[in-house]
Amino acid sequence: GIVMVGAVLASYALGTLPTAVLVGTRRGVDPTTAGSGNPGASNVYRLMGRRAGVAVLVVDLLKGLLPALAALVLIGRPLALACGLAAVVGHVAPIQRRFRGGKGVATAGGVALVLWPLVSVVLVAAFLLAGRLVGIASVGSLVMAVGLPVGVGLTGRPLGEVLAAAALALLVVLRHAGNIRRLLRGEEQRTRRPDPAPR
Ligand code: G3P
Repeated sequence: GIVMVGAVLASYALGTLPTAVLVGTRRGVDPTTAGSGNPGASNVYRLMGRRAGVAVLVVDLLKGLLPALAALVLIGRPLALACGLAAVVGHVAPIQRRFRGGKGVATAGGVALVLWPLVSVVLVAAFLLAGRLVGIASVGSLVMAVGLPVGVGLTGRPLGEVLAAAALALLVVLRHAGNIRRLLRGEEQRTRRPDPAPR
């Protein structure tokens, strides 16, 4: 009823918190115009260094993890899925920023860690391995996204959860349209070790 709707809306609202923009503003860099133009951990890492990138990663991940975990503990899995999806939609399409948000990788990762921890840990390992081997953030993100519904299916979760995982994956993949185009042209930015952040 009303509690469920409220929980979903609150999760959306939390998802809209523009972590990368806030961290960037403190350092005088706008991640929506600099680098790849994406307000996410990868772009902040490349532009502002490891500390800033990790800070964005952790907070964006918590934006998905906390609402999903709260809903799971208090109500159950269906609401946790709905709240998790809402948080990712909030990150990707924040109303107060004219629906221009990030790509949803970290936030979806936080949701996945709550709902499918085993699959998530394997996918994070795959992300890190892909990052090491290929050195391009978006490749790791796309591997994780595609792997999520596959992993959820392989571990025998019900069809509804496979579909929810597929929805998360689809959202992330669609937001990587520009990255996919650049990858196909061989123009995608590598994630180099960033220069030490100016203080
Ligand atoms: O996590 C987002 C990443 O997959 C791509 O970001 O900045 O490289 O376009 P970016």
